[in-house]
Amino acid sequence: MTAQDFVPDGARTLDELKAAAASCKGCELHEGATQTVFGRGDTHARVVFVGEQPGDVEDQKGLPFVGPAGHLLRRAVDAAGMDPRQLYITNSVKHFRFELRGRRRIHQTPDRTHIEACRPWLVAEFSLLRPQVVVVLGATAAKALLGPSFRVTQSRGRVLPWPDSAQRPQDFAAPAKLVATIHPSAVLRADNQEIAYNGLVADLTVAARVLN
Ligand code: URA
Ligand code: SF4
Repeated sequence: MTAQDFVPDGARTLDELKAAAASCKGCELHEGATQTVFGRGDTHARVVFVGEQPGDVEDQKGLPFVGPAGHLLRRAVDAAGMDPRQLYITNSVKHFRFELRGRRRIHQTPDRTHIEACRPWLVAEFSLLRPQVVVVLGATAAKALLGPSFRVTQSRGRVLPWPDSAQRPQDFAAPAKLVATIHPSAVLRADNQEIAYNGLVADLTVAARVLN
């Protein structure tokens, strides 16, 4: 089973998709998580950000990027001169994957099976949004959108067309430009956070310029 079994045929609004995603059982991640965390933002957004999966805070609040990584991302978006009200932010996988250690829930990177199972939601969001620029945040989003051979470290910070290596680009109705960068959580984990943060802002500035 995948999310495809839960995506409503002919959905016309993001709210319709979000409502349907709330009861998705397209993979086992819904069993342990609190709730589906769907994308959110401007329905006419020209820029769509794609992250990995909700974290602990997002899982509890039901909103993407509202925890520490989200705060950092918002700061970087601001520094890059993007209007945060004109964005849409979503994740490659829409349930939180974690491992219980005592009472703590430790983030676990989603597997290829979860990315593939959840991908129909991303495709459905894109087909309604038809963004001009897609910002790929880190390796999981790159896997979901561009396939396993794409390397963020090699291709970050450049305006790219959907590369030939992209998996099933025909799924994405409007072929947007794409800018890949590191995940904001990677900035939080970096030895030198300032350098990592400045790199993120520089990449987002490239994405912002596509619109101007
Ligand atoms: N990291 C992500 O990739 N997405 C979120 O929503 C939060 C943290
Ligand atoms: Fe459905 Fe995605 Fe949640 Fe899996 S992670 S249950 S595919 S919404």
